[in-house]
Amino acid sequence: MASQVYGAAYGAEPRHPGWPAKLGPLVVRAGTVALRAVRLRDGGEWSRIRLRDREYLEKWEPTAPGPWAERNAQWSWPAQWASLRALARRGQCLPFVITVDGAFAGQITIGNVIRASLRSAWVGYWVSSELAGGGVATAAVALVTDHAFAAAGLHRLEATVRPENGASLRVLRKAGYRQEGLFLRYLDVAGDWRDHLSFAITAEETGAGLAEKLVAEGLAHRPNPR
Ligand SMILES: CC(C)(COP(=O)(O)OP(=O)(O)OC[C@H]1O[C@@H](n2cnc3c(N)ncnc32)[C@H](O)[C@@H]1OP(=O)(O)O)[C@@H](O)C(=O)NCCC(=O)NCCS
Repeated sequence: MASQVYGAAYGAEPRHPGWPAKLGPLVVRAGTVALRAVRLRDGGEWSRIRLRDREYLEKWEPTAPGPWAERNAQWSWPAQWASLRALARRGQCLPFVITVDGAFAGQITIGNVIRASLRSAWVGYWVSSELAGGGVATAAVALVTDHAFAAAGLHRLEATVRPENGASLRVLRKAGYRQEGLFLRYLDVAGDWRDHLSFAITAEETGAGLAEKLVAEGLAHRPNPR
């Protein structure tokens, strides 16, 4: 079992369906949300927003070496982009940029893709503080989850969230994820080992799709055809 599962992660299975892709659009309070692959030229906007939003983001993100200002400087983007692109080309990651009305608004990533008999991955995201509460992350989670279970051929997605992160908990619950448990001292976030609630969803639970569910509940709508 173990060799079957991990064999896929280390390249025994060369397929990486579902990448690259453009997802959406879906209209929410903040504007028209779409997802696309990360690009080298995203560095300017990525850095501008993340330097400005340090207080908003840092307390929820995994601890990393080096000062925030350096890790999020424009010059550090090419290495991060190249690393994400390399993982995507190996089928281990689907790294999307979230756009709102065509402009860079954040990131959503399906990571640690394991295929074979597990077909599972995690999802992680952040959105510019200027758009907070506008429904952007919820739409992005719905779009990426539907894609993961359709084109990307996965069966299960997981998300872990600090119990204090009310906005992210709300995103997952609105999108349709189910709470499964509590991981104690799970992840090094903002300088300490933090408990995380674990959420998950499997393909069987999505019905007509999470984007359709948001539309049916009045939380999003499809753009009017021109
Ligand atoms: C979490 C995050 C992605 C949410 O993005 P967003 O685009 O604002 O999310 P949405 O608008 O789709 O949904 C947010 C919901 O949380 C609610 N909310 C915001 N702050 C909240 C809080 N402190 N407690 C409870 N609910 C809260 C909003 O009102 C909204 O719910 P509503 O639509 O019912 O009003 C964004 O806050 C962020 O990037 N945070 C920092 C990084 C992060 O936490 N990433 C996730 C790590 S698990």
